[in-house]
Amino acid sequence: MTGRVTLVGGGPGREDLLTVAALRALGSADVVLYDRLAPHSRLSELAPDAELVDVGKRPGHHAIPQSEIEAILVGHALAGRHAVRLKGGDPYVFGRGGEEVLACHRAGVPVEVVPGVTSAVAVPGAAGIPLTHRGVSHLFTVVSGHAPLTDDELHHLAGLGGTIVVLMGVNTLPMLAAGLARHGMRASMPVAIVERGFRRDQRTTIADLAGIVTAAGVAGVGSPAVVVVGEVVRLAHEGDQSAAQLMERAAGFAAVAA
Ligand SMILES: C[S@@+](CC[C@H](N)C(=O)[O-])C[C@H]1O[C@@H](n2cnc3c(N)ncnc32)[C@H](O)[C@@H]1O
Repeated sequence: MTGRVTLVGGGPGREDLLTVAALRALGSADVVLYDRLAPHSRLSELAPDAELVDVGKRPGHHAIPQSEIEAILVGHALAGRHAVRLKGGDPYVFGRGGEEVLACHRAGVPVEVVPGVTSAVAVPGAAGIPLTHRGVSHLFTVVSGHAPLTDDELHHLAGLGGTIVVLMGVNTLPMLAAGLARHGMRASMPVAIVERGFRRDQRTTIADLAGIVTAAGVAGVGSPAVVVVGEVVRLAHEGDQSAAQLMERAAGFAAVAA
């Protein structure tokens, strides 16, 4: 008898942000394929009967190629097992969930997708940044910074208003900042970079568009991080620090480094 595949959105990394449906899928899994951004420290308890496979995706380094992950999922299901693919955030937000669903359809394997809390919304929120705020921003755009945006995309983004959220955007931050400025975004627009959202070592760096690349360099900002561009950044707070204090801190570091 054919088994099944469940793609599970694991949220931004904290276990209590797994949904009830995610826990249910893990509890009935025979095999779980997971990667580093999904909460995985207690998988042996959450999926007690499952073989656990770390497919170990890291930026620029795909430990197991995507086509092989799809073949493994389909192979387990065709052998009658319940295979769970546990991903960070939501499977359909830069998560290649669509490709895995198509692979299952092609193989005639039943597949279900359990949505997850996406880092695009939750990680800014963990730094106190609402993506929309009445009178400040009534739209947000989520883009991938995995590859630099085209000039046309930067032109539209710079003119759109609202909030811009960039995932996988640390390496391409200089191109983003320069491109938005070139297309007319004002130099004083606030930008936040929230690293390691929901972890104990979460850190938020804030500067204006003109200074964010220097601030990020001085702070040694690294992945995983979510970049937020827009006036809503002024509402940020982390611990007892306001956006203004976070901005002053980054400016202070940059002045010392200069
Ligand atoms: C391949 S994308 C996957 C996104 C995921 N499907 C989602 O919905 O959140 C990975 C990127 O998500 C962001 N990300 C995910 N979890 C994060 C976290 N806890 N803190 C900061 N950024 C995170 C980073 O931009 C990271 O490079």
